[in-house]
Amino acid sequence: MKLFIDTANIDEIKEINQWGVICGVTTNPSLIAKEGRDFKEVVKEITSIVDGPISAEVISLDTNGMLKEARELAKIHPNIVVKIPMNKEGLKAVKILSQEGIKTNVTLIFSPTQALLAARAGATYVSPFVGRLDDISNEGLYIVEDIVQIFKLHNIKTQIIAASIRNPIHVLDAAKAGAHIGTIPYNVFIQMIKHPLTDIGIEKFLEDWNSL
Ligand code: E4P
Repeated sequence: MKLFIDTANIDEIKEINQWGVICGVTTNPSLIAKEGRDFKEVVKEITSIVDGPISAEVISLDTNGMLKEARELAKIHPNIVVKIPMNKEGLKAVKILSQEGIKTNVTLIFSPTQALLAARAGATYVSPFVGRLDDISNEGLYIVEDIVQIFKLHNIKTQIIAASIRNPIHVLDAAKAGAHIGTIPYNVFIQMIKHPLTDIGIEKFLEDWNSL
């Protein structure tokens, strides 16, 4: 499973990019709003840091508005992937954008059948939201497992991004389920790198070395 970072914060992106573990970035309107900066400026800056797919989301609710925004976003950089919400208007936009060669990431996927629709409309990526399903007492990972199975069975090339990841167990389960990509918030990267036995091990090695 490839790893993306799920943030619009430049410092977080720079830090995790230096670890050498990410090959893409996902943002959404809430993450952009947290930064309090111009949307396109932020997205452009991200493209200068990470050389891989950078998802930027439209906010229009109608197909024409989505198309207009998507074409503008796509002009920023060839790595831009336009995030489109999962609804009727979104599917129509995805169909047209895929014919125009603009990459799309269909977001707010909460069922395997939504993912199938998005894939058939021509989505490059689908983003099932694991954490938000867990929040309402639904097993979020089941949907990732189902989408993986359906896409494999029917030879669908759309890539699955496990999104709304809230902890390292989500990452582990998404990887085991066969998601192509996990998009992970900064704090979860920090949790993933930590293990008490690693810290104790480093301390012990140093202690022994210094007693030489
Ligand atoms: C994915 O692309 C979304 O930006 C994100 O994963 C949503 O996560 P949240 O449910 O923690 O807001």
